[in-house]
Amino acid sequence: MNVVRQGSPLPAPNHPQMPAVYLQTFGCQMNVADSNGLAHQAWSMGCTFTKEPDAADIIIVNTCAIREKAETRVYGRLGQLKPIKERRPDVKLLVAGCLAEKDRQIMQKKAPHVDALLGPRDYKQFKALLGSWGVPTDAPPPETPFVMPSAEDDPGQDGALEFAHLRALVNITRGCEKFCTYCIVPYTRGPLESIDPDEIESQVRRELRAGAKEITLLGQNVNSYLWQPTGLDFAGLLLRIGAIEGLERLTFLTSHPKDFGPKVVDALARLPNVQPRLHLPVQCASNSVLNAMARLYTIEEYLDKIAYFREHLPRWALTTDLIVGYPTETEDDFLKTLALVQRGTFESAFIFAFSPRAGTPAATMQPQVPPEEKIRRLQAVNAAQNEVTRRFNESFIGERVRVLAQGPSKKDPAKMAGKTGHNTTVVYPRDDRTKFAPTTDVLVEQAFNWGLAGSVV
Ligand code: SAH
Ligand code: SF4
Ligand code: F3S
Repeated sequence: MNVVRQGSPLPAPNHPQMPAVYLQTFGCQMNVADSNGLAHQAWSMGCTFTKEPDAADIIIVNTCAIREKAETRVYGRLGQLKPIKERRPDVKLLVAGCLAEKDRQIMQKKAPHVDALLGPRDYKQFKALLGSWGVPTDAPPPETPFVMPSAEDDPGQDGALEFAHLRALVNITRGCEKFCTYCIVPYTRGPLESIDPDEIESQVRRELRAGAKEITLLGQNVNSYLWQPTGLDFAGLLLRIGAIEGLERLTFLTSHPKDFGPKVVDALARLPNVQPRLHLPVQCASNSVLNAMARLYTIEEYLDKIAYFREHLPRWALTTDLIVGYPTETEDDFLKTLALVQRGTFESAFIFAFSPRAGTPAATMQPQVPPEEKIRRLQAVNAAQNEVTRRFNESFIGERVRVLAQGPSKKDPAKMAGKTGHNTTVVYPRDDRTKFAPTTDVLVEQAFNWGLAGSVV
C-alpha cells in the first residue's frame, strides 16, 4: 500500500453520515478521466461529495508534474489545505496523480500533513485505502445516481455541472514509453498499455446512455494504440467506435507525429461524426532540437504528414504544442519555430517555455537557455500564433456553427458558452431557448483571439 501515514480511522463504520469527499483536479484530461474513476469508486462505497474542503472528511488532490508551474500550484494548494488538517486532524488528505508519483520520496518532507499518496498506476488500491480510513467496503450500491463532482481548477470541467455529461473522456491507452527527453510522463504513468476494444466500446455506450454527445478517445499517444490479440490499430479502433449509433461527436487526444500517418487520415475521412480537429504536437521546427528532444521525426517528415492531412481533410483545425527555450536551442533554431507559426501552419497552439524536470535527460543538458530569453521567445511565438488564430476565427464570420454547450459564460452569465466542432469557443445569448439546450446553431458575428460571438439562428 502506498500510504505515507495512516492516522486513526474516520468515525465512519456505523455512522449514518457517510464521509464527504472533496476532489480537486490539476493537469491534463488523463487526470480528469482518472478523477472521474476515483470519484466513481468513492461513490460506489457510499461517499458523498462536497465543493467545500472545509466540509470534507476526505480531501483528494489529483496532481500534475508536467512543468514546474504545475508543481508549484499543487504545493501552494496543499499549503492552503493545511489549516483544515490542523483544525480537524481526522480529515484525510490524499495526493493522487503524477506529482504523487514523481515526489513519492520527498512529499512527506515538503507536505507532512499529507496522509497518503497514490500514483496514476496505484488506483486499484484506492478502495482499500478508503477502507483503512474506515469507509465500509461492503456497503450496498447507493441509490443516488453517480454525478461527477466538479471543483475549481478542474481542466475538464470548465463548463457548468449541468452540461458536464455532454462530453466524456474514454481512455484507450495508459502510460507512454516514448521518453521524449524533456518529459516526466513516462516516469509517472509507466509504459504504454492498450485497453481492450470491447471495454472501450462498452464505456462509450455507457457514456452515450448517460447523455454524452461528444466522446474523446484519450491517450498520451493514441496512434500507438494496438490491441495485440486481434491486431486492431488506432485507425481500426476509430472506425469501430465511430460506427456506434447515437455518437454525435467523436474526437481524440493526443497524436504523436511519428506514429500518425495516411492510414489514420483515411479512416478519419470516412467518419461523418468525427470532429474537424487534430492535435499534433510538433514541439519545434529545428531538426537539431527535435533530435535533442528524441521526438523521432524531422520537420520535413512532419510537414509531409500534415500536407497529406490538409489535402484529405480540408478545413480541419490543426493544433499543436510548442516548447521554446529547449536546452541547445539557438536563435536560429528558435526563428525556425517562429517562422513555422507565422506561416499559419496551426489554427491554434499551446506554447510552453521549457521547464527542467528532475530525472529527465533535458534537465542536465547543456547549454540551458536563460529564463529571460525563454520568456522573450515564448512571447514572440505567442504573439505570432494569436494573429493566426484570430484570422482563422475571422474566417467564420457570417457562417452558421453548431455549438455544444458548456454552460453560462464565466465572463458574462447573461450569455452561454460552448464549443464548435473545431473546438473554438463561442458565446451566444442565454435565453429560454438556449439555457438548457445541449446544442445550439449560432450565426457568427464577431471573431476574437479567444473565439467567436454570435446570435441564435
Ligand atoms: N503526450 C502528449 C502530450 C504530453 S504533455 C504528446 O506527446 O504530445 C503536453 C505538452 O506539454 C507536451 O506536448 C509538451 O509541449 C509540453 N511539455 C512536456 N514536458 C515539458 C517540459 N518539461 N517543459 C515544457 N513543456 C513541456
Ligand atoms: Fe511525454 Fe513524449 Fe510521451 Fe508525449 S510522447 S507523453 S511528450 S514522452
Ligand atoms: Fe500532468 Fe500527468 Fe497529465 S504530469 S499533464 S497530469 S500526464
